[in-house]
Amino acid sequence: MKYLVVANWKMNPPTLKGAELLFDAVKVGLKDIKNVEIVICPPFVYLPILGASASAKSFGGLRLGSQDCFWEESGAFTGEISPLMLKNLGCQYVIIGHSERRKYQQERDSMIYKKIEAVFKIGLKPILCIDRISQVKKDLKGIENLILAYEPLFAIGTGKPCSTEKAKRMRMAIEKKLNKNIPILYGGSVNSENARDYIEGAGFQGLLVGGASLNAQEFIALVKNVSRG
Ligand code: PGA
Repeated sequence: MKYLVVANWKMNPPTLKGAELLFDAVKVGLKDIKNVEIVICPPFVYLPILGASASAKSFGGLRLGSQDCFWEESGAFTGEISPLMLKNLGCQYVIIGHSERRKYQQERDSMIYKKIEAVFKIGLKPILCIDRISQVKKDLKGIENLILAYEPLFAIGTGKPCSTEKAKRMRMAIEKKLNKNIPILYGGSVNSENARDYIEGAGFQGLLVGGASLNAQEFIALVKNVSRG
């Protein structure tokens, strides 16, 4: 089985140089990993440069994703980025509905599901972040192409990860509700030491990693631990 590890850089690092250095270090460090799909989600402004520095061949196992998008393809939507633009830059994944966007941008499920539909339509893969089962729509058209990330709020950026037992119970409850076999990731204070527990112990297919993805050596160790399974 191929695992999925998604690096959410959030609003980091502050310079393009820093982004290039981090990206290149990860690319080199993980070039031999075969059983993990590694997705780097930098801030929008770095996407074209990182995409170009990683031409299809030298790309190794790394894929590009974005941290959000808008639901229209183009038009008068000041400040927004469309799924079509992302696709044209070589992105394959889009994180949607991250709890920080729900909190600071007041994103609601109605907007989030419009975004998911737009991402499906353009042929990218949405990674929907949830912290409650009620946020999962069971009758979503195209749901077989969805990736879910269970991210309990108390665990995000706090250094207090969810216990593997609780995370496992939540994974099973989501599977039961959806009655579909789609990838479910765990996110929230994942590091190189606990990464393997969520895969092996709690049965997740992958991880959504924030803080630990900003340190190349830590992130490389984390992915290698997932890969060892
Ligand atoms: P964290 O963030 O790994 O820093 O807890 C995870 C996330 O917000 O996706």
